[in-house]
Amino acid sequence: MTQSPEFEPQIVAFCCLHCAYAAADLAGGSRCGYPSSIKIVAVPCTGRVDSLHLVKALEDGADGVMVAGCLPGRCHFQTGNLHANQRVEHVRHLLEEIGLEADRVRMINVSAGMGVQFAERAKEMAETITALGPNPLHVRKAKAPPRETAMEETN
Ligand code: FES
Repeated sequence: MTQSPEFEPQIVAFCCLHCAYAAADLAGGSRCGYPSSIKIVAVPCTGRVDSLHLVKALEDGADGVMVAGCLPGRCHFQTGNLHANQRVEHVRHLLEEIGLEADRVRMINVSAGMGVQFAERAKEMAETITALGPNPLHVRKAKAPPRETAMEETN
């Protein structure tokens, strides 16, 4: 799909405070950088990220959603990242079911010291979403008439 050159994907990244958040901070501090369109949301553990959070982010205008947790076996709450991974896979499946691209949602695992790797994965995510184009859910919502107007037309 060819995109207009001005398309800058909006990506929400739910980052575990114990690892990915620190890795993102390290990436920023060490100037290896990642796209500014990636908006970090700190969470105590990715295990707290529910499927609904992922869907809601897409519904509210994100073009992609990333969940970034501790490395397997290193979650401070033992299995939070494993549960998060299952939810991400569930949402990816749901997206496919409704005709959207599963790649709009992705999970990565990093340690606090993996700033470079965080930046690389974030850039990969931004490239993927740029190639996919704007989130059709949001585009449709933006084109829909305001609810009051729709009600008036039916009355
Ligand atoms: Fe980092 Fe659970 S504490 S993913």
